[in-house]
Amino acid sequence: MQIINQLDSLRDNVASLRDVGARIALVPTMGALHAGHMALVDAAKNSADAVVVSVFVNPTQFGPNEDLDAYPRTLDRDVEMLQKADVDLLWAPSAATVYPAGFSTKVQVGGPSAGYDGAARPGHFDGVALVVAKLFNQVQPDVALFGEKDFQQLAVIRQMVRDLDFSFEIVGVPIVRDVDGLALSSRNAYLSTDERRAALALPRALANAAKAIRGGADVEDATAAAKAGILSAGFSNVDYFALADAVTLEPLSHFDGRDARLLAAAKIGKTRLIDNMAI
Ligand code: PAF
Repeated sequence: MQIINQLDSLRDNVASLRDVGARIALVPTMGALHAGHMALVDAAKNSADAVVVSVFVNPTQFGPNEDLDAYPRTLDRDVEMLQKADVDLLWAPSAATVYPAGFSTKVQVGGPSAGYDGAARPGHFDGVALVVAKLFNQVQPDVALFGEKDFQQLAVIRQMVRDLDFSFEIVGVPIVRDVDGLALSSRNAYLSTDERRAALALPRALANAAKAIRGGADVEDATAAAKAGILSAGFSNVDYFALADAVTLEPLSHFDGRDARLLAAAKIGKTRLIDNMAI
């Protein structure tokens, strides 16, 4: 695996892959890799000849009071995992390479970025859209893969790709869960043993609400019961627990059989967890 920090070297290496006719997959990450990321890498290997993984903790998607400095950085371990998975290129630029002095462009995606994490983390999806648009231009992949764990992020990226005429495929990869049901996330590392145990209330509430709504329960009743369950398990607050159209993310007050998703975010101790489930 080539580890690349400079844009001209990335372009040369991508061009060499193209010269031999390789179909190229991009897996954007912020590092601190876990089995959820490796599922993206596996899916990338199945859908392309060469895999580029980016590791970049993107400062523009963190708010002023968020965990940019504390965000786990485990590059040596990430390199080992990616080498073992036989990834072709690791693109690990510095912040100054991605955002050189004088950088002044913004990318703002409407539609699915409204509400949910868009409301709770103002500017977050602008930062995600900006860095992902840059990664798309830097690597120019044939396919890019994102986890369904960040379901709103995936919807925002799909919207941006449609709106800006990026002409490659976006693949959403299903959430990877621990054996007990907790969705894998780099932020799970922040949980104490007791919080880790109590955090299971989140996927449990999603599964119960999804089952109830599928069975015809009133959406408001099902989401209210879910919120109460999460709070009584020890979470300090529930940012949102809502049913949404799976493409536009418009909130749904009734389930009418369309592709819909339950989206949730809640805080336990100092850690904010997000999760989602299909209906
Ligand atoms: O999902 C992530 O890890 C990040 O938001 C992404 C897509 C790599 C952009 O920084």
